Amino acid sequence: MKIHAQITGTGSYLPQRIMTNHELAQQIDTTDNWIVERTGIRQRHLAAKNETTSDLAHAAALRAIEAAGIDAADIDLIVVATTTPDLVFPSTACLLQQKLGIENRCPAFDVQAVCSGFVYALATADNFIRAGQARCVLVVGAETMSRITDWSDRSNCILWGDGAGAVILQASDTAGVIATHLHADGRYRDLLHVEAGVSSGLEKSSAVRMQGSSVFKIAVKTLDEIVDETLAANHLQKSDITWLVPHQANIRIIEATAKKLGMSMDRVVVTVDRHANTSAASIPLALDTAVRDGRIRAGDLLLMEAFGGGFTWGSALVKWMV
Ligand code: UT7
Repeated sequence: MKIHAQITGTGSYLPQRIMTNHELAQQIDTTDNWIVERTGIRQRHLAAKNETTSDLAHAAALRAIEAAGIDAADIDLIVVATTTPDLVFPSTACLLQQKLGIENRCPAFDVQAVCSGFVYALATADNFIRAGQARCVLVVGAETMSRITDWSDRSNCILWGDGAGAVILQASDTAGVIATHLHADGRYRDLLHVEAGVSSGLEKSSAVRMQGSSVFKIAVKTLDEIVDETLAANHLQKSDITWLVPHQANIRIIEATAKKLGMSMDRVVVTVDRHANTSAASIPLALDTAVRDGRIRAGDLLLMEAFGGGFTWGSALVKWMV
């Protein structure tokens, strides 16, 4: 019999400290109105000085483990999507394994696809399960974007926030993860990037640089294409999708994708107002919110989609089973 993967539990975590648009407007030349109108963002959460990406991942993972009703020892693979790892190495996934006290020596690694990271990590975990190489995977998107934000650059600092989201993905006879579609195009590296890097020079700027309006236009067009591709490849109509669970970057990008799907905004999970763009953490944060408040129910068909630095983009089609 074919092996499939199902999400059996979700969890998320946002650091305690909230920075509102009003607070930001006291530091740079911007206004709450401008930020809300152009992005839909009202506030972001910021990790404490001593709080790292693996700490956020740990808190979200514990909640997902509890929701799935498993023991941490049952996990046989950990995949963490992050652009803001605690260290150059070990990977954040290895640090997380240690924090969870997992002694079964399961493999653990990070995936780097910036804002598309969660979809990439979910696709990776799904393929491990389908291949019979794992049966219970912890998939996490976790970021401390505040650490690579230039808080004096109003053109993009207004966008970023910290947070983490996690899911437990388990082997099953019936398909939960129906399909994933991933893409990348390295030609656009200069539109959205961080200059510093281990091999390029850690002394270079470690702040996100973005040509916002160009990224915006390409994001909308590319997400349109991934919606078409996902529906066609899986022989679905727009109306078959119950919930759009998009990457939370900008409400105007989310609205454009919803329009493409002919969906009213009450079928779209929106959390960008509360936590801003948390990169790889944003989809599992939104998913966990809508699962816990009862919006997402067994039998629903979810379309997750993301676009980010690289450029990378992708989608995951998930039948909700729990
Ligand atoms: O998640 C990964 C992928 N990233 C994204 O998807 C982000 C995509 N980009 C965006 O979300 C938007 O481009 C931004 C929110 C970053 C910027 O919004 P925009 O509507 O594209 O604004 P813009 O950069 O074209 O700037 C429009 C105007 C400019 O003024 P002038 O030249 O028209 O006088 C900017 O100087 O708004 C000005 N501006 C601001 N004003 C107040 C730019 N940033 C700010 C600001 N506050 N924070």
